[in-house]
Amino acid sequence: MSAYFACNSDEVKEGRGKKAVVDGEEIVIFKVEGQVCAVLNVCPHQKFQKLHEGMFENGIVTCPMHGWAYDVRTGISTNADGRLKTFPVEIKNGKVFVEI
Ligand code: FES
Repeated sequence: MSAYFACNSDEVKEGRGKKAVVDGEEIVIFKVEGQVCAVLNVCPHQKFQKLHEGMFENGIVTCPMHGWAYDVRTGISTNADGRLKTFPVEIKNGKVFVEI
């Protein structure tokens, strides 16, 4: 695995996801109570890449297509049988790096 620059950390706001392309993968970066998390922007339900547009509250993102919801810290769905792919994140000098 290698760490790739994704975005500046001040671009990641509480309450909404930040889309980025890292090593050819579309990911979404979230901030939950100060913790930064990264997930693959592919919903396990029907593979739509819309999680960056989903409602995001208390660490849970809801896919806007059919409502499957996921805890972005673990990737585990809170209302369905699915799991988002998650990536380790490191913050260095105000920049977000994602290990892929
Ligand atoms: S594609 Fe996300 S809930 Fe259906």
